[in-house]
Amino acid sequence: MTEPKSKNIFWHHGKLTNEDRVKNLKQKGCVVWLTGLSGSGKSTVAREVELALVSNGKNASVLDGDNIRHGLNKNLGFSPDDRKENIRRIGEVSKLFCEANVIAITAFISPYKADRDMARSLVPQGQFFEIFCDTPIEICEQRDTKGLYKKARAGQIPEFTGVSAPYEAPDKAELILNTGKETLEESTRHVLDLLVEKKII
Ligand code: ADX
Repeated sequence: MTEPKSKNIFWHHGKLTNEDRVKNLKQKGCVVWLTGLSGSGKSTVAREVELALVSNGKNASVLDGDNIRHGLNKNLGFSPDDRKENIRRIGEVSKLFCEANVIAITAFISPYKADRDMARSLVPQGQFFEIFCDTPIEICEQRDTKGLYKKARAGQIPEFTGVSAPYEAPDKAELILNTGKETLEESTRHVLDLLVEKKII
């Protein structure tokens, strides 16, 4: 972990312990980290899980790759270093959500294992769930909802994940969603079941 650039800065402690917050909110903050190829269903599952949680009085919020790249991360591209910085920032933001006892649901390709592990290391054990949207590239490419695979195959998008940039599949995911085969309802149910099993909700 690199040291902050600023000198003479001090950590300011709040008056609430995390236990105080959990008792009052009836939910524990956590990070639901969805990873997978473009078009694998990350954002769709994220939004459905968010809807189900919020409809049940829980506080959950989605951080979505495409959206975040319009704001906080608008200065980043798709080189390995930029993707790393993208995930580092989102890891830090998710950590803040988690500390505020919000269920942060992130939908980023996050193609590198090391970057996902770094995000995992920022939150307490048992509060980070890596969820692999395991849709084969053939299906993502068939869907091609944004027309990006077509462009990438035509050489119009450099460093496109799965085509001209790597995707490292997780080997320690808490959950694998077979988003190529199961329905959205099934995928959503699996995520919610995991959160119940892990005593988050
Ligand atoms: S990540 O690799 O850094 O985690 P992120 O999830 O933020 O990626 O953004 C991925 C989204 O950006 C894709 O869903 C797609 O819409 C768009 N995109 C544009 N160019 C690329 C590219 N070269 N590789 C992957 N996705 C791209």
